[in-house]
Amino acid sequence: MNKAIEAVNGYKIPQVGFGVYKIKNGKEFEMAIHEAIRVGYRHFDTAKIYGNEEELGRELQNSGIPREQFFITSKVWTTDLGYEATKKAFEQTCKKLNVTYLDMYLIHFAGPHYLEAWKAMEELYSEGKIKVIGVANFEIHHLENVMKHSRIQPMINQIETHPEFPQNKLHEYLARHRILHEAWGPLGQGNKALLDRPELTEIAFHHNKSVAQVILRWHLQSFYFVRKGEVVK
Ligand SMILES: NC(=O)c1ccc[n+]([C@@H]2O[C@H](COP(=O)([O-])OP(=O)(O)OC[C@H]3O[C@@H](n4cnc5c(N)ncnc54)[C@H](OP(=O)(O)O)[C@@H]3O)[C@@H](O)[C@H]2O)c1
Repeated sequence: MNKAIEAVNGYKIPQVGFGVYKIKNGKEFEMAIHEAIRVGYRHFDTAKIYGNEEELGRELQNSGIPREQFFITSKVWTTDLGYEATKKAFEQTCKKLNVTYLDMYLIHFAGPHYLEAWKAMEELYSEGKIKVIGVANFEIHHLENVMKHSRIQPMINQIETHPEFPQNKLHEYLARHRILHEAWGPLGQGNKALLDRPELTEIAFHHNKSVAQVILRWHLQSFYFVRKGEVVK
């Protein structure tokens, strides 16, 4: 589960993360994080808009596991895009999570002022406050625009990806530019049409696994990256 993928700068990212979108705060949240840590997750994905950064920070701290052993991602929300606003949002996020740095910080959507937000992210990265800087839900033209106007290119793009929506074209582009492809909604957000697909149920039956396990294996095996101009699986 914690096999690491390296970002272009060599920083290690545990390949499988635990997303906390829509987990209800309170006892349910506490139990979910406790169980995730118990079974071995160390990579956690939150965002300002999820409204649970404070709870996540508290649960990670209560685990007694040193901060450096966790990989924590958060995201800057659309209303906080802009140079000053993004710096302020980052400080608030760190305060809520009770951390001095983030392993990964992403622009959640390419809303107005995302270029100014990227400038703030570059500076926070140079100061060592963010280890991996990236974006989410960016299309090729957004990425091209960032790369044209910036010093550091995005290291990762977190995008909706599952077997019915593999994002092949965008994936090829990301691989060519050494930008990691991270899946959100890897199980199609629990969509029954995907989880009941006959091809997937057949594979699951033959391997004595659940359809969710088969889909997660597909994600893990789809990972590839470009080295020296060659796509390597
Ligand atoms: N950057 C972005 O814009 C963005 C957007 C969305 C999500 N995300 C991130 O990605 C993470 C994961 O995405 P997601 O939660 O939206 O979707 P997901 O992981 O594809 O789907 C989660 C749903 O799958 C179902 N599920 C989980 N395990 C299952 C299993 N073993 N068998 C069958 N169904 C199972 C559950 O449905 P039930 O509980 O209803 O049964 C669960 O609610 C989020 O938590 C968040 O951190 C990012």
